[in-house]
Amino acid sequence: MPNLQKRWMRLLMALFAVAFYGVTGFFAQPRAQEVGCTVEGCHADLLAKRFVHPVARDDCGSCHESSGAPHPGGEGKEFSLLAEGGDLCLTCHEVISEEGSVHPPAQDGECLTCHDPHSSEVRGLLTQPLPDLCAMCHDGYQQPEGDSGSVHGVITSGKSCSSCHRPHDSSLEKLLIKEPPDLCLSCHTDPVKNGERTLEPVGKLLKTSQFVHPALEMSGCSTCHVPHVSEYPYLLTGAFPGGFYGKPKPESYELCFGCHDSALLETKNDPDATQFRASNRNLHFVHVMADKSRSCVACHDMHASDVPHLLRQFVWFGRWRMPLKVVQTDVGGACTPGCHQKLQYKR
Ligand code: HEC
Ligand code: HEC
Ligand code: HEC
Ligand code: HEC
Ligand code: HEC
Ligand code: HEC
Ligand code: HEC
Ligand code: HEC
Ligand code: HEC
Repeated sequence: MPNLQKRWMRLLMALFAVAFYGVTGFFAQPRAQEVGCTVEGCHADLLAKRFVHPVARDDCGSCHESSGAPHPGGEGKEFSLLAEGGDLCLTCHEVISEEGSVHPPAQDGECLTCHDPHSSEVRGLLTQPLPDLCAMCHDGYQQPEGDSGSVHGVITSGKSCSSCHRPHDSSLEKLLIKEPPDLCLSCHTDPVKNGERTLEPVGKLLKTSQFVHPALEMSGCSTCHVPHVSEYPYLLTGAFPGGFYGKPKPESYELCFGCHDSALLETKNDPDATQFRASNRNLHFVHVMADKSRSCVACHDMHASDVPHLLRQFVWFGRWRMPLKVVQTDVGGACTPGCHQKLQYKR
């Protein structure tokens, strides 16, 4: 073919393509922007937030259908939803597939309590950020109970409740993402920064120490800690002091006496109450039942240690990492801590 004819053929084909697109484009679904549902003055606000539901951007018609009444001006009856409640969402999303536990509001199709169908300022199209979203139905997970109580810092920061729970379903109980104690150790194996303090790397201690508190092997962390809030310090399940000093009475250490005999504290002179004694003189009594009651944590690690009887190598006294220098013998022991010179006890 001569060159001129070739050019004419190309031009004809291009014209045909444009015409074809025009016809099909006319019959294809109009996009939200094209029909102008979201132009200024109409429903612009619906898609104006930071995170937009992709289907709402693409096609209002995936959820709304016209009832034929003129729009606008049909008194709100000109559109209906393609399906009611959660059924609408479930046509595209399968959110419940696990059977360990299912969250009732997700099961009951209350998707819109937690999600906005169009757009939201919160990731995941959520109607509110966590933990407030969850607090609509679950009270009391954010505030410590009482003056000396504690709240788990993860709840008020970062992923909040989602650090431990899935929102719809889980193969595990209580919508958990991992079974405790692995759940707890996923964060507490290494030291956790908490403002000025650095928390003990409990998981590392458990792995590397010679002696582990049998309480941990009995039922993990939950014997002594709750996951959310507690009326006691350190998320503890029972009364225990929040620092180096407690009160000189057994009730101040109730947590321990769920399993241990409080006799180890109570009597001043008793050859049977404890091994921590000089002859009959109960040295637990001397240290703990004195005016300044030194808490068990002054000498024992609650989780694990390389020294027998879970004794510590050192203890934090304010910012001082105070060594204890404990030596054990068959009939007693000796100690050279920062608080006093070397003292020995013999049973
Ligand atoms: C994923 C499904 C879905 C898509 C897509 C969708 N909507 Fe909706 N829309 C809903 C649902 C569900 C409601 C009812 C909300 C309620 O009851 O709180 C609603 C309500 C509305 C309302 C009532 C006012 C309001 O905010 O509750 C308007 C107006 C509206 N949609 C317009 C639109 C427009 C315009 C588009 C396209 C830009 C669109 N919708 C896309 C699901 C959708
Ligand atoms: C017509 C299909 C369709 C319907 C109906 C639909 N969605 Fe979606 N949705 C999508 C698509 C596509 C995405 C983007 C891909 C993805 O994340 O799965 C999405 C994403 C999402 C996301 C994740 C957004 C994000 O930022 O991570 C949420 C939450 C969501 N939809 C909730 C809903 C809810 C609630 C309803 C019912 C009101 C609903 N969807 C109805 C198709 C649909
Ligand atoms: C109790 C509140 C709640 C309810 C009820 C709920 N969701 Fe969610 N949903 C969430 C949270 C929280 C996320 C995680 C958001 C994030 O972190 O990005 C989520 C995430 C999603 C996602 C993103 C992908 C995924 O599976 O993680 C989709 C899709 C979704 N939800 C759909 C639904 C549908 C459909 C329903 C109703 C059957 C529903 N949701 C009910 C709280 C809820
Ligand atoms: C619309 C109300 C509502 C919202 C919002 C809500 N929940 Fe629930 N949730 C319930 C109900 C109802 C139950 C079942 C009764 C109960 O245990 O309190 C439940 C139970 C639970 C359970 C126990 C499940 C089991 O198998 O025992 C967990 C965990 C949970 N919700 C976590 C959350 C988290 C995390 C959020 C925020 C993402 C949240 N809930 C938001 C209503 C809600
Ligand atoms: C997603 C990470 C994460 C998981 C999972 C986690 N924690 Fe924590 N935990 C932290 C952080 C961060 C802190 C420090 C912030 C705070 O409590 O103020 C902390 C603090 C603590 C504290 C000290 C509280 C105080 O008042 O000083 C205890 C005790 C604790 N966690 C126990 C647990 C137990 C038990 C589990 C399992 C049920 C667990 N943690 C799971 C991150 C986590
Ligand atoms: C550090 C992990 C962790 C975080 C963060 C967390 N939970 Fe839990 N949650 C658990 C564990 C573990 C259980 C199971 C406790 C049990 O069986 O005694 C649980 C149980 C629950 C239950 C069932 C009722 C109960 O107390 O046993 C609800 C409801 C619940 N959590 C809601 C929430 C809400 C709401 C948030 C956020 C405000 C949240 N959780 C944050 C670990 C966590
Ligand atoms: C026998 C009871 C008991 C058990 C079981 C227990 N703890 Fe503790 N835990 C305590 C006591 C008491 C404290 C507070 C005194 C202290 O600082 O040692 C504490 C403190 C903590 C702290 C804060 C440490 C710091 O440096 O302030 C973390 C984190 C912690 N525990 C995590 C865990 C984890 C994770 C488990 C399970 C693997 C667990 N605990 C099991 C009694 C226990
Ligand atoms: C769930 C039960 C339980 C709780 C609660 C508990 N313990 Fe224990 N503890 C044990 C068991 C079991 C042993 C091993 C047998 C023994 O020595 O009494 C043990 C051993 C010890 C030892 C080592 C004794 C030795 O001679 O080797 C010390 C120290 C100790 N616990 C301190 C505490 C303190 C302090 C608390 C309170 C914060 C506490 N325990 C809470 C069960 C528990
Ligand atoms: C001043 C340091 C110190 C304090 C404070 C202390 N202990 Fe001890 N405890 C020891 C020493 C040292 C031993 C080991 C005695 C031995 O066998 O030589 C011991 C032994 C134990 C034993 C093993 C059984 C026994 O009585 O010999 C238990 C259980 C125990 N302590 C629990 C506690 C509890 C609970 C508290 C807090 C109420 C506490 N201790 C406070 C130093 C202390």
